[in-house]
Amino acid sequence: MTTAEFKRQIAEGIPSELPAPKPYDQELNHAPKRKDILTRSEKKLAIKNALRYFPLNFHQVLATEFAMELAVFGRIYMYRFRPDYEIKARHLYDFPHRSKSAAAIMLMISNNLDNAVAQHPHELITYGGNGAVFQNWAQYRITMKYLSEMTDEQTLVIYSGHPLGLFPSHKDSPRLVVTNGMVIPNYSSQDHWEKFNALGVSQYGQMTAGSYMYIGPQGIVHGTTITILNAGRKISKNGEALRGKLFVSSGLGGMSGAQPKAASIAGVVSVIAEINPKAIQTRYTQGWVDEVYSDLDKLIIRVKQATSGKEVISIAYEGNIVDLWERFADENIYVDIGSDQTSLHNPWSGGYYPAGMSFGESNRLMSADPETFREAVRSSLKRQVDAINIHTGRGTYFFDYGNAFLLEASRAGADVIKPDGEFRYPSYVQDIMGPMCFDYGFGPFRWVCCSNDPADLELTDRISAGILNELIVKSPPQIKQQMADNLHWIKEAGKNNLVVGSQARILYADAEGRVAIAVAFNKAIADGIISAPVVLGRDHHDVSGTDSPFRETSDIYDGSKFTADMAVHNVIGDSFRGATWVSLHNGGGVGWGEVINGGFGIVLDGTSETEEKIRMMLHWDVNNGIARRSWARNDGAMFALRREMERTPGLKVTVPYIAEDDMIEKAIK
Ligand SMILES: NC(=O)c1ccc[n+]([C@@H]2O[C@H](COP(=O)([O-])OP(=O)(O)OC[C@H]3O[C@@H](n4cnc5c(N)ncnc54)[C@H](O)[C@@H]3O)[C@@H](O)[C@H]2O)c1
Repeated sequence: MTTAEFKRQIAEGIPSELPAPKPYDQELNHAPKRKDILTRSEKKLAIKNALRYFPLNFHQVLATEFAMELAVFGRIYMYRFRPDYEIKARHLYDFPHRSKSAAAIMLMISNNLDNAVAQHPHELITYGGNGAVFQNWAQYRITMKYLSEMTDEQTLVIYSGHPLGLFPSHKDSPRLVVTNGMVIPNYSSQDHWEKFNALGVSQYGQMTAGSYMYIGPQGIVHGTTITILNAGRKISKNGEALRGKLFVSSGLGGMSGAQPKAASIAGVVSVIAEINPKAIQTRYTQGWVDEVYSDLDKLIIRVKQATSGKEVISIAYEGNIVDLWERFADENIYVDIGSDQTSLHNPWSGGYYPAGMSFGESNRLMSADPETFREAVRSSLKRQVDAINIHTGRGTYFFDYGNAFLLEASRAGADVIKPDGEFRYPSYVQDIMGPMCFDYGFGPFRWVCCSNDPADLELTDRISAGILNELIVKSPPQIKQQMADNLHWIKEAGKNNLVVGSQARILYADAEGRVAIAVAFNKAIADGIISAPVVLGRDHHDVSGTDSPFRETSDIYDGSKFTADMAVHNVIGDSFRGATWVSLHNGGGVGWGEVINGGFGIVLDGTSETEEKIRMMLHWDVNNGIARRSWARNDGAMFALRREMERTPGLKVTVPYIAEDDMIEKAIK
């Protein structure tokens, strides 16, 4: 298709002629059939809702078709309206536009829906099984049309994928404001999501799916590498290296699939259980998994050989994680580090496959007999925890990987609760990411080169490495290790060939580092060294953007971890300090109703106005969370905040007085 025809189709929005129906592409990975949750009258409402996007002369045909989609797939995706052009990141000027910022947003949306990037592209799901960019293809088409015609004096408003419209606004306000899955708190259960989503009125935007900030697997490879490296430091008794240590976990899916690659970058032996042969095949052909075993006897022999030979190797076990933990316990295989990355944020619809049942049987049972399936999941979780408890009794360091494993296991009645009511095991944020990274402001900093040119990406790698090199020299000992890990990462990033989709990169930096790198990029764009604008953003797995009591904020101990003021303030504060777009989500990572998180995007165009926005917005985007963590009495955050106040005029944050525990003990008696 020519660029002109591509532009014409985008600008057209909903086509004036009804397009031909699209065949169901068997080659692609599709979302599982969703639960049949609507009553008969609600089904009529869902169809009526869907028809709102179309002129009356389409209704006769579409009403029958949408009724069929609802019956067969549990959702109305409007497959017929999937565009004929290839959806992928392109040079920003290839998108029809009147506003550069709007073109950059189109690039980011397109990347999230690219067949090579998205998990279920035809159902508009980017990752995590249910992380939606839009609910249906009409929303996609209308949004792209609005973006193609909007000016820098309008703001596009998106409610859970639905483009509410373009509204007049100021040139310095965000061009786009997105919310996903925001509901009245009492209506936030898993079944509420199923129902509202089936009605076409809400969606689960995960974190970077519905905020258009997904950059393929490298984001997660980076985060997982940092986690495994730091977990290794935690268990290292005499500063010994990670070589020869064994890491066991589950999942080779969207994010979990990064585990073997990251484990190898960190230098350990890893065994990851995965029940779905297709998921294993993807990671194996990609070269992220070195060897695959379905026979536990052979696997055990290989693991003993790999650990004693201190090999760096990643092994997939094709089977259930429960069987792996149990058998390793029986065989006395010592596991140094253990975790789990089944999708327990979505336990009843394909996120977790119970032991004792084949993959196919589980898939059938979850929609045919949901209650029996739920019971199987619960008893499998109990077995899994019993086996893990045997290992940790022998010394294994086990942590929850933010997938709601401990939460769902506890709900299933598994032995994961200590007498004081807390979980027996820490979350990776409580033990690793929180005290080592977030409290100091270290978090995800990602960028996408809008020229779509690898040469620009290489330049940005070099610029950011140069900045980190300068900053590390004067950084205090508390943050030197994080600086060094990220400097090493960015120097090697190009060689690791992690780009899938847009020309994107990620590293972790603190507020000072993020601002310095962004300003340097902006200057390089102004000087014509970088050939086109750069989009800057982050995932929501960060210092300030996310309130998630069992993950990002699990290391907040002042009782406020179930509040969500920080995440909401973050988005509001980013929006008036210069973000090009902001998004606020219910759900993401650990499940609907379990987390509130927000994100942003900012388009760097080389202007001095943008430099001012960078300084304002990134400073707030990190220090909001540090201030909250400091108020919660987290040591690292109190240190980072003191440092920040010394160098930032105008920053005055309320700091806590720390009361003596003994004195309170006496007072309460
Ligand atoms: N990687 C990270 O840094 C990170 C951070 C936070 C949260 N998470 C969470 O990790 C989870 C996984 O994310 P994802 O994108 O990979 O999801 P996914 O659904 O793509 O992958 C999960 C995989 O687990 C497999 N699986 C399920 N039950 C199994 C079992 N009993 N035994 C063996 N394999 C089993 C599934 O077949 C699937 O391939 C999510 O809940 C996500 O929110 C990951």
